[in-house]
Amino acid sequence: MKYFTIPKTDIKASRIALGCMRIADKSVEEVEKLVQCALNEGINFFDHADIYGGGKSEAIFGEVLKKHPEYRNKMIIQTKCGIVPGKRYDFSKEHILQCVHDSLERLHTDYIDILLLHRPDALCDPRVVAEVFDQLYQEGKVRCFGVSNHTPLQIELLQKYSKYPIIINQLQLSIVHSVMIDSGLNMNMKEAFAQDKDGGVLDYCRLNEITIQPWSSLQASWSEGTFIDHPNYQKLNDVLFNLADKYQTTKSAIAIAWLLRHPAGMQPIVGTTSVDHLREIVKASDIQLTRQEWYDLYLASEKPLP
Ligand SMILES: NC(=O)c1ccc[n+]([C@@H]2O[C@H](COP(=O)([O-])OP(=O)(O)OC[C@H]3O[C@@H](n4cnc5c(N)ncnc54)[C@H](OP(=O)(O)O)[C@@H]3O)[C@@H](O)[C@H]2O)c1
Repeated sequence: MKYFTIPKTDIKASRIALGCMRIADKSVEEVEKLVQCALNEGINFFDHADIYGGGKSEAIFGEVLKKHPEYRNKMIIQTKCGIVPGKRYDFSKEHILQCVHDSLERLHTDYIDILLLHRPDALCDPRVVAEVFDQLYQEGKVRCFGVSNHTPLQIELLQKYSKYPIIINQLQLSIVHSVMIDSGLNMNMKEAFAQDKDGGVLDYCRLNEITIQPWSSLQASWSEGTFIDHPNYQKLNDVLFNLADKYQTTKSAIAIAWLLRHPAGMQPIVGTTSVDHLREIVKASDIQLTRQEWYDLYLASEKPLP
């Protein structure tokens, strides 16, 4: 596993992180094995949210920490708040403080390393958020702050009032779902791929040293699931297969290597719950795709180059 220091912090993080969204229906023993495997493979970064499994994901992970308190100082734990599923987004002081309180209890920990605001709240008052960040930091409950699914201007607005740097923006990105890359490549063209849907978030994050954490890196879409071995993505799977053969690895590792190859220094959050899949994926850390291979994968996902 390779590591990097998250800009504007002293946090040394693994280039690949484990996402815990899908562990809610696993047993404590299964999650214990997954966490042990991650740590053995050099993954020290774990991503959560208060809403995963309605809190169950954090709770099961917390059971593992209760059993193995010695794991805590080997881990960077990130969680998110701000979504009330099906009802609203909520960046109010009361909601954020309550979320953090509940996450700390479920996770059996005294502090969260990084707290992300999960999705933009239309009623966000950045002054209030700044106040809450300050309180959480002063109380020692949260070390660093970031966001997820935020545009550059939404980040600027938060940053205008908060003295704590926004260090992370977690965004949907895979070879197939590559909106933030497509618009840059197709700028000034009439085609739909040229449409800037995120305010130039990729370049903004690079300019401001905000680490992008791709989520759903193996997914085509919610409805289709993973593109690995999916019949709708035969061409992509052929290229993945050939590169997996060349690098003596698996298609999933090549798909993650595609993200790691981008010079923005992204930290993919992988969401497997399988020890075998995780062992395959971590191999991506040692693969350096060539420039042509990176573009071959992009083109194989049926996107144009102008
Ligand atoms: N910020 C946000 O809005 C947001 C949204 C969604 C997710 N996330 C975060 O991102 C993390 C990753 O998201 P995700 O779970 O959708 O990502 P993912 O890594 O693209 O998907 C993992 C899923 O793909 C399956 N899969 C099928 N074939 C696989 C293979 N060969 N190798 C590995 N996995 C394979 C896994 O099944 P197995 O378990 O059987 O391997 C698992 O169900 C989440 O855990 C969460 O932390 C954030």
